[in-house]
Amino acid sequence: MKNIVVLVSGGGTNLQALIDAQKSGIIKGGKITCVISSKEGAYALERAKNNDIPSRTIPRKNYPDAKSYSLAILDALREEKADLIVLAGFMTILDECVTSAYPYRIINVHPALIPSFCGEGFYGLKVHEAVLEYGVKVSGATIHFVNEKADAGAIILQGTVDVLPDDTPEVLQKRIMENVEWKLLPKAVSLFCQDKITIRDGKAYVM
Ligand code: GAR
Repeated sequence: MKNIVVLVSGGGTNLQALIDAQKSGIIKGGKITCVISSKEGAYALERAKNNDIPSRTIPRKNYPDAKSYSLAILDALREEKADLIVLAGFMTILDECVTSAYPYRIINVHPALIPSFCGEGFYGLKVHEAVLEYGVKVSGATIHFVNEKADAGAIILQGTVDVLPDDTPEVLQKRIMENVEWKLLPKAVSLFCQDKITIRDGKAYVM
């Protein structure tokens, strides 16, 4: 059984999707053993508590830079004996000290179709604002491994939704979460925990 540590910063609807998937047996070969929040009072922490999942808060604001913050996260991941780390709405970019310690063992959900609308500065509603500003007709979400470059690791799964003429960032975000993120994130986690993702030439393939 792999230890899954989920990193969060906000509402935690993706964490909830993982918890629900775990309860209904969709996640095979792994168990959420800890939730770590970068923000005090994040609602995601309530979700962990309501489901008897141990949690820690390591506030980003208590650390002067990404490196010192990442070292604190690394310590916690080691203490928790993490086999898989899931960034589920985690709004802090982790330094290489974490990504190099867990190659192809950190999974992120990004709310757009990578390589579009991604990288530094593209997070949360900002992504959907940029999508609507550009006028693309299709958007979606990407589940990918995390490496030393923001949103640049191997893609595991992607799913799409239509962008509709009257969409607001909030409406589009909800459509993408409901139709793609909450389905594909648990699926990718389950595939990982069953060793069903292989890496060849830096690309991820689902068996
Ligand atoms: C989700 O849409 C997730 O894809 C996005 O933030 C939202 C968090 O929602 N993540 C990023 O933008 C990371 N770059 P949640 O807290 O309800 O899961």
